[in-house]
Amino acid sequence: RHCFSKSSDGFLYCEGVRVEDAMELAERSPFYLYSKAQISRNFEAYRQALEGLRSIIGYAVKANNNLKILEHLCGLGCGAVLVSGNELRLALKAGFDPERCIFNGNGKILEDLVLAAKEGVFINVDSEFDYENIVTAARVAGRKVKVLLRINPDVDPQWFLDAIKSHPNELKLVGAHCHLGSTITKVDIFRDAAVLMVNYIDEIRSQGFELEYLNIGGGLGIDYHHTGAVLPAPMDLINTVRELVLSRNLNLIIEPGRSLIANTCCFVNRVTGVKTNGTKNFIVIDGSMAELIRPSLYGAYQHIELVSPPPQDAEVSTFDIVGPVCESADFLGKDRVLPTPEKGSGLVVHDAGAYCMSMASTYNLKMRPPEYWVDNGSVVKIRHGETFEDYLRFFDGL
Ligand code: LLP
Repeated sequence: RHCFSKSSDGFLYCEGVRVEDAMELAERSPFYLYSKAQISRNFEAYRQALEGLRSIIGYAVKANNNLKILEHLCGLGCGAVLVSGNELRLALKAGFDPERCIFNGNGKILEDLVLAAKEGVFINVDSEFDYENIVTAARVAGRKVKVLLRINPDVDPQWFLDAIKSHPNELKLVGAHCHLGSTITKVDIFRDAAVLMVNYIDEIRSQGFELEYLNIGGGLGIDYHHTGAVLPAPMDLINTVRELVLSRNLNLIIEPGRSLIANTCCFVNRVTGVKTNGTKNFIVIDGSMAELIRPSLYGAYQHIELVSPPPQDAEVSTFDIVGPVCESADFLGKDRVLPTPEKGSGLVVHDAGAYCMSMASTYNLKMRPPEYWVDNGSVVKIRHGETFEDYLRFFDGL
């Protein structure tokens, strides 16, 4: 069951709520609309897949850092994967148990590492300089830090094992980490990686380290194209590594972002107008690359639909869907076949829960949009839209 669906008479619903009705309730357009129940269902799919294993589901906060969403995931029993001190502060504010948090990244700065060390979160070691900073952070914090070694095929982990033996008071090596990439649609590579990783773990254990954790990162893809293709689910991913994890008596850490949150949300826009330049047709909407940059930045495809049935005589054409930002990179979709929408009607960009709001900017002074979720049949605001007054505050007293 998926939270967004079209009724037979052509209205888009989020759970039981017509998106058109949510547009009437929202403080302004564009806005993000989530399904709280879909977030729970996505989490539950991971939880069920992990039954029988000791595990941490570390939600990659970079995908979406809405505090209400974090609180919800935390309440479901989720952990958190963080890439900055502020993400860590927010996770703590949302209530996440530091013992279920992992601090990641190739450029972690000392100040943030000290905070992570004080809080007792796991830290993934990425490089030699990162290692040195973690040792310093452990000393400053006066706490022994649990570290996982990021295994990268190009790096020989032996330097690290030798180094860590000389810092027994600062660091405790507890596991190995890898992250294969994002939008992965075949789970075989997780198995291949897990085989490599347990070989490393066997080798590291033979040198006297008591490794307990295997962290296989995030990366499971989703059906952005809405072709109905059957993609691997969390169960498929976990089942490819389950036996290996059990055979080595390991705790499994996973770091999903996109596959937990992307499909729980639509970015909802209003059509400003429709125009034709030469041979190209454009639907101009009020949302833009400022609020949702993935298509402009990566050429990413996100499915686009109208939220209500078009007039009966509406002509079906091929459109580029563009925003009001004054540059040619400002598009949400290209060459989309759609019925010509009416001025003022609604249009959504699907799968906007991951890496959309969290990557939004205020370019053109389009302030970041409000966010809502459908919770038990009601549309509830979960973040205010940023305002012009918010922006002016940055200049107070200067
Ligand atoms: N763990 C690590 C170490 C990562 O680098 C990432 C994402 C994740 C977990 C979460 O991966 P996920 O399950 O979400 O695929 N902005 C890009 C995506 C960048 C992903 C970077 N790393 C996008 O909009 O597609």
